[in-house]
Amino acid sequence: MHALVFHGPGQKAWEEVPAPRIQQGTDAIVRVDAVTICGTDLHILKGDVPEVTPGRILGHEAVGTVTDVGDAVQNVKVGDHVLVSCITSCGACRFCRAGQYGQCLGGGGWILGHLIDGTQAEFVRVPFADNSTHPVPPGLSDEQMLMLADILPTSHEVGVLNGKVRPGDVVAIVGAGPIGLAAIMTARLYSPSHIIAIDVAESRLAAAKNAGADITVNSLNENVLDIVRGLTDGLGADVTMEAVGIPETFELAIDLVRPGGHVANIGVHGAPATLHLERIWIKDLTITTGLVDTNSTPTLIKLLASGQVDASPMVTHRFGLDEFENAYDVFARASETGALKVVLSAPQL
Ligand SMILES: NC(=O)c1ccc[n+]([C@@H]2O[C@H](COP(=O)([O-])OP(=O)(O)OC[C@H]3O[C@@H](n4cnc5c(N)ncnc54)[C@H](O)[C@@H]3O)[C@@H](O)[C@H]2O)c1
Ligand SMILES: [Zn+2]
Ligand SMILES: [Zn+2]
Repeated sequence: MHALVFHGPGQKAWEEVPAPRIQQGTDAIVRVDAVTICGTDLHILKGDVPEVTPGRILGHEAVGTVTDVGDAVQNVKVGDHVLVSCITSCGACRFCRAGQYGQCLGGGGWILGHLIDGTQAEFVRVPFADNSTHPVPPGLSDEQMLMLADILPTSHEVGVLNGKVRPGDVVAIVGAGPIGLAAIMTARLYSPSHIIAIDVAESRLAAAKNAGADITVNSLNENVLDIVRGLTDGLGADVTMEAVGIPETFELAIDLVRPGGHVANIGVHGAPATLHLERIWIKDLTITTGLVDTNSTPTLIKLLASGQVDASPMVTHRFGLDEFENAYDVFARASETGALKVVLSAPQL
């Protein structure tokens, strides 16, 4: 088969590799029908994630068709059309028993395209298939479902649920990439009074408006602090979210929150940020961090099926499965191309 193989920082190739085979009784093999690229894949290609070693097939998001299952798989059958989640779950360890699949101690967690071969391939081996896939309900497209492999559960769980968004809240989201946009969409489920999206790219701010932001702010040329304080009697936002992954945006998220408010960090950080405890010790803040668990994916599937969440506008570019070079290029130059999520699809069988 063909797969997108990582060959060290800055190097990748769509090349011939051996097809995956069942290794454990709990594995399934899935033919990839649709797959996307994550901002985290760009971090890997920059060399920011050293656990990813040369030879690794990238990708942790897919929708596909099951072609083989191990003898211990109970609920997934050959021919099933499934979502392959970015998080794999053993189902038995203390964290999986508590629904914290991202922290799995039994060989799961974020492993696809990280510690084992991933989904940017014609076929992928999915460990713990019963716990790590979700059936695609009739009527939902591969593209809609693909948005639930990573970005929607991430923003919902690590941003909105950790941030405890409540009716009437003012919510400020720093960063309007796919993760920030998914945070806007899923925050709306909890009826905040205002969602303020902050970014430095006009194309992203336009996308934030479409996703349901009430106010968009370009922090390069507008004073975010004044705008947020103006809306909140000078206090600051009830909830702020960091969806970029750099020190200055984390520090901004702290500056924008009101006393007693919640700051939910979603971004993956590669450098330390300064926590001004000398200013905030008195403010009763709750600051959360997290890796997605995907324990809200079944709920999000129901919300997609009922039309309460529509993730399809996130897909801006479409390619064939063999066009990874081109798709990565368009995705990496998002500020010029306007790319949000790019989808690569296999030919229909
Ligand atoms: N915690 C998790 O489980 C998890 C899961 C997936 C992704 N992530 C992380 O979430 C972050 C966002 O992901 P994404 O795919 O949306 O990334 P992205 O790079 O597409 O989007 C980041 C956005 O931030 C904006 N930005 C850059 N500098 C800024 C600044 N100084 N002020 C305001 N905005 C600025 C960019 O214009 C861009 O629109 C990344 O760090 C990603 O690795 C975390
Ligand atoms: Zn991801
Ligand atoms: Zn586990």
